[in-house]
Amino acid sequence: MGIKTIGVLTSGGDAPGMNAAIRAVVRTGLANGLTVKGIRRGYLGLMEEDIIPMGTMDVSDIVQKGGTILYTARCKDFKTPEGVAKGAEMCRKHGIDGLVVIGGDGSFRGARDLAGEGIRTIAIPGTIDLDIACTEYTIGFDTAVNTAMEAADRIRDTSESHERVSIIEVMGRSAGYIALWCGISSGAEYVLLPERYDNNEKRIIDKIVTKRKIGKKHHIIINAEGIGDSHGMAKRIEEGTGIETRATVIGHIQRGGNPSCKDRVYASAMGAMAVDLLCAGKSNRVVGYRDGKFTNFDIGEALDMKKDIDEHMYSLTVKLTR
Ligand code: ADP
Ligand code: F6P
Repeated sequence: MGIKTIGVLTSGGDAPGMNAAIRAVVRTGLANGLTVKGIRRGYLGLMEEDIIPMGTMDVSDIVQKGGTILYTARCKDFKTPEGVAKGAEMCRKHGIDGLVVIGGDGSFRGARDLAGEGIRTIAIPGTIDLDIACTEYTIGFDTAVNTAMEAADRIRDTSESHERVSIIEVMGRSAGYIALWCGISSGAEYVLLPERYDNNEKRIIDKIVTKRKIGKKHHIIINAEGIGDSHGMAKRIEEGTGIETRATVIGHIQRGGNPSCKDRVYASAMGAMAVDLLCAGKSNRVVGYRDGKFTNFDIGEALDMKKDIDEHMYSLTVKLTR
């Protein structure tokens, strides 16, 4: 049986570009003759029936905006079978035959469970962390990493003026992709990734001291959130080197702001593809980007895939920080 009504929600941490994806889902749905409903505050809003109609004007003037107009939430209750059953019941009550879920791998688990309850679901990777194994692109990473890079450039100016060591902590939860890209693009001297870090602070201290002797005036360390403790690290490095050291945790600044061109365009393509998949009768799929193409995977298979820092990129940071 064909679908008549679709829903769309955003879940987990917001990411710049989510609005572009929502807009594409709504407008592609309408173009295909579907009724489109927006579910506010993720799975929490689904359980609480926070469901609104979405027309073409509801997604006007949002492609350029950060955040998510549908709001987002983390909802523990949805991790229980009762929560998922309630979500499926709400979809049925509101005539939602297909649901597009924009979020990270936690949100994908919810989409997989809803599919198990007979609701057709398609997931779209929306997270600044880039930590989804099946795809080389996730909505928001490009904007977030550019924000982190700009912050590092600014900190470098003041670090140089004061001849300091500066530690810049970037987001990524337990993944080091933002740190890796930010480290290479900002010309950092040290890039600490949770996937590779050996906790050897002495080596960092020795390297700073050696480089200071050969005339290096300032030192930038990009530290990933997954390693953390940047303020403690700053204190120990200052003690170990005798050089003034400051730590800056960039934090949620990386989650906001106008999405980059890439985030707007890729998010739009993914949103449209999600609706096309629902119209083609697909369910329990996640949209991804691999080898230059938009594609899709079974959600369960995607969740089982493993991802690691690209060795070539990692060795590049090692070479460039010598
Ligand atoms: P992200 O989607 O960014 O990874 P979370 O891990 O916080 O963020 O997950 C977002 C939401 O997805 C959770 O608050 C919860 O409602 C739902 N979710 C997470 N894990 C599961 C699970 N195992 N089963 C069902 N729903 C889940
Ligand atoms: O997953 C995106 C992310 O920004 C992570 O990088 C970070 O660890 C986490 O969300 C922060 O979550 P919250 O907004 O709940 O503090």
